[in-house]
Amino acid sequence: MFLRHDPQPDVTTVYLPGLCLGEVRSARDCVACLLRDEDPDIRDTATLLTSELAANALIHGDVRNAACPKSGRLAHIRPFHITVEILTREICVLVCGKGSRNARVRPKPQHTWNETGHGLAWVEAMSTAWGTHGDRISRTVWFILDRASAPVVG
Ligand SMILES: Nc1ncnc2c1ncn2[C@@H]1O[C@H](COP(=O)(O)OP(=O)(O)OP(=O)(O)O)[C@@H](O)[C@H]1O
Ligand SMILES: [Mg+2]
Repeated sequence: MFLRHDPQPDVTTVYLPGLCLGEVRSARDCVACLLRDEDPDIRDTATLLTSELAANALIHGDVRNAACPKSGRLAHIRPFHITVEILTREICVLVCGKGSRNARVRPKPQHTWNETGHGLAWVEAMSTAWGTHGDRISRTVWFILDRASAPVVG
């Protein structure tokens, strides 16, 4: 893991190698650490949504990426990085990973009996805004949360 921090504005990028599903936890822990001084609700929401986007970056490519049940290693290496921007009024988290040819990055219709297809629905429901851009080379999915403790300016 490699970490780069710019204090002005407060922007940190964490680079992960994309070798195993365990990196979702590393991503979550990094975001929780970076947001340690934030309101706990904001921090918990950011870490949950980051987990979903990190898992998506690892799993969803041109083929669904599978992990070895014993080692946890993924069949296809998918490096990704996470940028956390702590701005005056909001927090923006961007997860940027490898792309795919026919990405349709949107929440699936929600049926309670579906075991998967909930991640982006949570992102949509719990964030102030979210979005995605990219192509077959790279894919970024981001979300914004309003900072509860943001100072009132003006
Ligand atoms: N980074 C990504 N690259 C390409 N496709 C993506 C990416 N993220 C999401 N998708 C597409 O959007 C769909 C919806 O994503 P979502 O996270 O809601 O569900 P899921 O990952 O299939 O299931 P779950 O998150 O519940 O385990 C995915 O099935 C996939 O087709
Ligand atoms: Mg998902």
